[in-house]
Amino acid sequence: MTTMELVVTRTTREAEGVRGFDLRRADATPLPVFTAGAHIDLHLPNGLTRQYSLLNDPRERHRYCLGISLPADSRGGSRYLHEHVKAGDRLTAGQPRSLFAIDAAAAEHVFIAGGIGITPFMSMIRWCEAHGQRWRLLYCVRSRARAAFLWDLAAYHERVLLYVDEDAGEGHPDLRGFLSDAPAASHVYCCGPAPQMQAVAAAAAGLGIDAGAVHFERFSAGQLAPTDGGDRPFDIVLQRHGGHFTVPPGATILETLERNGLSMPFSCREGLCRACEVPMLAGKADHRDSVLSQAERNAHTSIMPCISRAVSGELVLDI
Ligand code: FES
Repeated sequence: MTTMELVVTRTTREAEGVRGFDLRRADATPLPVFTAGAHIDLHLPNGLTRQYSLLNDPRERHRYCLGISLPADSRGGSRYLHEHVKAGDRLTAGQPRSLFAIDAAAAEHVFIAGGIGITPFMSMIRWCEAHGQRWRLLYCVRSRARAAFLWDLAAYHERVLLYVDEDAGEGHPDLRGFLSDAPAASHVYCCGPAPQMQAVAAAAAGLGIDAGAVHFERFSAGQLAPTDGGDRPFDIVLQRHGGHFTVPPGATILETLERNGLSMPFSCREGLCRACEVPMLAGKADHRDSVLSQAERNAHTSIMPCISRAVSGELVLDI
């Protein structure tokens, strides 16, 4: 995967526990184009690779802006960026990639963000504003102190509905009400913690919104329950390379391939980035990633070998 070296030109405090990073090329040459909702991989000096959404205007070519929160359970990526990275440091980044794209044909874009899930919507909102597209945002946060980018969002007045947990006590945001205000042919986009995404999926289904018009961005692994494949061993057949291997309990397809001398592309190794996707020619996968759509899951034509397993006894891979 092509990488580039970027310089941290500025860091900011965007909210309690949220740091902003402004990244540019040292020679000021234009950066690769990105689309609204896209992210980049950061390959950190501590050996971790993490994905972060780009939040600036996609028309900008001179910088990438990130907003990174420090959760209590940080697995090392965000913690490193918060505690060790300062202006002037250099970071290695992958090319921008889009797994959370906006559908320009939608009558209205209905955005629902939870906490740091606001970041992809910052570039989407800027894109909507530049293209005259209709949008609304429901932004759910634990407290005002932890709500990043409120200053930028204040410019949009009534199109932004802020829901603050600590003000609402035991209440919940009225997702059904927010979604039902959207005209027909609207699209819904949600990025936030797993319970919120499940609630949005349920509310959208309850209102009869087509599943193809509801989009999710997951920013941590383990948010989808595995299907019925369990942790049983299964076989993989490599159609083009040739070879037949057993994937044992506790090991992934990717690890099994690596142990047998095959080097495969990967990035997150958590089912979040799609970098390792492999076409499947036969068999039924136990999809455990967070990136395939329901239609793609049902089709069983590709698999994320870093995390997914098999329901059938054998998978034939186009490798
Ligand atoms: S390496 Fe990211 S989905 Fe497999």
